[in-house]
Amino acid sequence: MNLEQRSREYREYLETYLKEYYKASSDEPQKLLFDAMQYSLMAGGKRLRPILAFEFCRICGREWKEAAPFAASIEMIHTYSLIHDDLPCMDNDDYRRGRLTNHKVYGEGMAVLAGDALLTDAFGVASTAELTNPGDMATAIGVLSECAGSMGMVGGQVLDILSAERELTEQEVLNIQNRKTGCLISAACALGVIAGGGSEAQYDAACQFAAGLGLAFQIRDDMLDVIGTQAELGKATGVDDKKNTFVKLYGLERCEELVASYTKYAIDALNVFEDTEFLKDLARSLTERRT
Ligand code: IPE
Ligand code: IPE
Ligand code: MG
Ligand code: MG
Ligand code: MG
Repeated sequence: MNLEQRSREYREYLETYLKEYYKASSDEPQKLLFDAMQYSLMAGGKRLRPILAFEFCRICGREWKEAAPFAASIEMIHTYSLIHDDLPCMDNDDYRRGRLTNHKVYGEGMAVLAGDALLTDAFGVASTAELTNPGDMATAIGVLSECAGSMGMVGGQVLDILSAERELTEQEVLNIQNRKTGCLISAACALGVIAGGGSEAQYDAACQFAAGLGLAFQIRDDMLDVIGTQAELGKATGVDDKKNTFVKLYGLERCEELVASYTKYAIDALNVFEDTEFLKDLARSLTERRT
């Protein structure tokens, strides 16, 4: 199965799973909250993190659908991070995933709460995974919490906000990118291995792959802010002017080289697995992505 076919299969399964999870919610008095959550959750998006979770589960030798609770939980956390990232008190963006941002439609209060609910529900969804070794659930929940929380994505977002004030060193920018974007990508790969009942060596390799891919992905995101268009990306471009991005540090050409070298680092980490063509193709395709 090629990159496009398998990605589509993973995306469709994830979207059906998420719809099913929230299907009873329209009868609740807080229906508006669920509308706001669904608005951002079902707005498309590349679904990169779920795809990674499914694929790592598969190459560890287990039925990939077993990773659905983890895949869904990471996409819920990612979506919450985007809703909050777009708020006026953060990046103040009007468009996301090809539509108006959550707060533009539902107001800031509801957008904050939709994010809060997605984050909290994510842990409930994750806890429903059926693992070959049920003892691994505690590890999985710990990984999810660490990657999403104050030491992970939220920590990175804090450093990102603070960084607007001054020029940063390469090491500081790397640290921000690793946390704000790399951590959730790591969680996706690590939880895929846990769902797949993989070995410690496979777990470590997945984390190494994610570290490279996460950096390449965020550097490309920063490049697209300059070379992309809103029509392709579904979000405004040219908005990172005050941000300490790699583009600002090194310029576009050097960034292209960095994306290539971090992607190579990611691909090289896959040696302990068999059947890695999909992941390699995926990593390569992301270096040239326009969306
Ligand atoms: C955007 O993530 C924010 C970053 C961490 C760079 P994606 O580019 O994965 O956004 P969607 O999910 O496809 O909308
Ligand atoms: C977002 O980084 C990272 C998270 C949401 C955690 P950006 O602020 O660069 O993402 P976009 O460009 O708005 O998608
Ligand atoms: Mg931001
Ligand atoms: Mg932003
Ligand atoms: Mg960006």
